[in-house]
Amino acid sequence: MQERIKQIEAEAIKTISGCQSLQSLEEARIRYLGKNSDFFSVLRSLGTLTPEERPIIGALVNTTKANLEQAMRDKKVLLLQAEQKQRIEVEKIDVSLPGKGVRRGTIHPLSQVMKEAQDIFLRLGYEIAEGPEVETEYHNFDGLNIPPHHPSRDAWGTFFVKDEVVLRTHTSPVQIRVMEKRKPPLAIIAPGRVYRRDSDATHSPIFNQLEGFLVDQKITFGDLKGTLTEFLRQMFGKDKNVRFRPSFFPFTEPSAEVDVECVMCSGRGCRLCKGSGWLEILGSGMIDPNVFKAVGYDPKKFSGFAFGMGIERIAMLKYKIDDIRLFFENDVRFLEQF
Ligand code: PHE
Repeated sequence: MQERIKQIEAEAIKTISGCQSLQSLEEARIRYLGKNSDFFSVLRSLGTLTPEERPIIGALVNTTKANLEQAMRDKKVLLLQAEQKQRIEVEKIDVSLPGKGVRRGTIHPLSQVMKEAQDIFLRLGYEIAEGPEVETEYHNFDGLNIPPHHPSRDAWGTFFVKDEVVLRTHTSPVQIRVMEKRKPPLAIIAPGRVYRRDSDATHSPIFNQLEGFLVDQKITFGDLKGTLTEFLRQMFGKDKNVRFRPSFFPFTEPSAEVDVECVMCSGRGCRLCKGSGWLEILGSGMIDPNVFKAVGYDPKKFSGFAFGMGIERIAMLKYKIDDIRLFFENDVRFLEQF
């Protein structure tokens, strides 16, 4: 019996020390100390021993059991240490590696052009006014000398919100709103979003305009020409020629379309300017007496000029962008270039 116990102990100690994982250690515990182990059957047979043998074998069984349990505890500590060491190795963080960079945003090209245009007029002494994008038909049309059913309303593909309420088709209604509230002299610019039923490579149903108007006594077409020439030269280059072509707007009379020398070919003629050498930039004119009457100004006493321009168009020409939709898709690869 003693032999048998010693043999089991030796075998168990060997197995335990050879365990490579906590799982194989647990398997060893079940095999050598579990209910179905040889050691357990020895324990069960203690009853068959003589009273003399019993205490000797009993003591041996106890110390053997204690030895094996101790060996397993020691092994477990070693295995846990090894496991932890391995985990630290695997999960090691190299704090000297460069971090994930936070990409810095850039100012949207439309915002840049809008700011540039505004700054030019702010330096000329203009102030900024704003109006609602959801506008009354009166402010968008009637007050601007565009009566109901007048064919010129078709020039703007209007979105109707409901009866007599529209998404403004231009920033000109801000002229009416400011003049309704204030008296001349006025030098105002009105930036903002406008809406038209129009969509292709050069038209977007939503786009930005910058409106401007100046009202005082004895304002002439010469003031308009001087102001807009100065603006376009600051915007496109000091050396650029500017020309004024007769045009029509219901709210200005006379009206002029203002062109700047082509930014690509400097007037020689190219694809951008369709061979003409000129780029159409803004609409303008002397404020129509009917507009002054609508806001309660005396057209005999006051005169003024107004102008409006599309910011997307200016940005496209300045940065040579051929599709307006790029401004609204907000692909960072596009935006990062500005
Ligand atoms: N509101 C006009 C447009 O959107 C532009 C304009 C403004 C023309 C002011 C003349 C004077 O087409």
